[in-house]
Amino acid sequence: MNLPIRARRNRKSEGVRRLVCETSLNPGDFVLPLFLHDEDEDEAIESMPGCVRWSLAGLVKEAGEAMALGIPAVVLFPAIDDSLKTKTAEECYHAEGLVPRAIRALKDAHPELVVMTDVALDPYNEDGHDGLVVDGEILNDETVAVLCQQAVTQAEAGADIVAPSDMMDGRVAALREALDEAGYEKVSICSYTAKYASAFYGPFRGALGSAPKAGDKKTYQIDPGNRREALRELVLDEEEGADMVMVKPAGAYLDVISDVREATVLPVAAYQVSGEYLMIKSASRDGWLDEERVMMESLTAIKRAGADIILTYFAKQASELLRNSSEKG
Ligand code: PBG
Repeated sequence: MNLPIRARRNRKSEGVRRLVCETSLNPGDFVLPLFLHDEDEDEAIESMPGCVRWSLAGLVKEAGEAMALGIPAVVLFPAIDDSLKTKTAEECYHAEGLVPRAIRALKDAHPELVVMTDVALDPYNEDGHDGLVVDGEILNDETVAVLCQQAVTQAEAGADIVAPSDMMDGRVAALREALDEAGYEKVSICSYTAKYASAFYGPFRGALGSAPKAGDKKTYQIDPGNRREALRELVLDEEEGADMVMVKPAGAYLDVISDVREATVLPVAAYQVSGEYLMIKSASRDGWLDEERVMMESLTAIKRAGADIILTYFAKQASELLRNSSEKG
C-alpha cells in the first residue's frame, strides 16, 4: 500500500507509546472516600468489597496509608446511629459529633492531609433525604440554613474543603457567607455541581443506612438524561463562589465532565461512585474482567474526559499499582 501516513508508527514500541501518551494518572489526582462509625471496631462493608466502616483509630491509620501512597485527600462519610437521627438532623452540627471528632483526630495525626467533608443531611435525617422533609416535600431554604451550621461545625473542627452534595439551590453562596462570617475564609467549597439522580448510589446508601425512607431524590438531583442542565448548575455555582466543581457519577457521565471542563477554568472533580466500583469489583471477583486493567481504564477515561480530581474507592489500589509500575519502568 502507498501509505505515507501511518498512525501505527506512534504505537510501535512501549517507549514511543509512553512519549505520545496523552493521559496519565497520578496518586495526586485522587481523593479517597472513607466511611466511619462510632464504634471501637472496624467493620467490613459487605455491599462494597474492600471498603470498611472505620473506627476513629482505623480511620487515622487508613488515612496515613493513603498519604504514604501519595494520595493528598480523603472525604468522610459517617454512618450515624439510628438513635441520633431526627426530623431536623441536629446531630449534623453537633461539635462533639462523629465527623468533627474524626476531623480533629485526622488533622492531629496528619496535619498535611487534606480533609474534605460531605455537607448534606441524609446520614442524620430520619427521612434519609439530603434536606429537611415536611409533608413529603424537601424544603430548600430551611435546609440551607442547617447546612450552613453543619459546614461551620466541620470548619471549626479543621476541615480543609467542604463539599455540599445536597443539591439545594443557593447553598454555595450561603455556605461561603456563613464560613466567612465565622472566620473560615480559608475553607474551600467543592460543590457537587452536577449530581444526578442515579441508581449507581445504591451500595453507598446500603453502607450508611441512608436510603430515603419515602420517595426519591428527583426533586433535587438532576435527571440522568439532561446534559445542558449541568451547565446551568455550573453557572450558578461559579457565581456563588465555588472553588471546585464536581460531576457525579463519573463513568456514565463522561460527556458531562467534558462539557463542564470546557465551560469553566475551575478545577473539575468527578466521583466514581459506589455502583461503578461495585460493578468492577463484582465482575472481577470470578475472573470475568481483569480488575486492575479495568480499574485503570475507568479512571483514565474519567481523567481524559476532563477531571482534574477523582474521588474513587480505588484510590489506594490504583496508587499502589502506579507506584509498582513506576518502580519497574
Ligand atoms: C449523599 C451522598 C450520596 C453519595 C455521596 N453523598 C448518596 C445520595 O445522594 O443518595 C453517593 C456516593 C456513592 O454512591 O459512592 N449526600
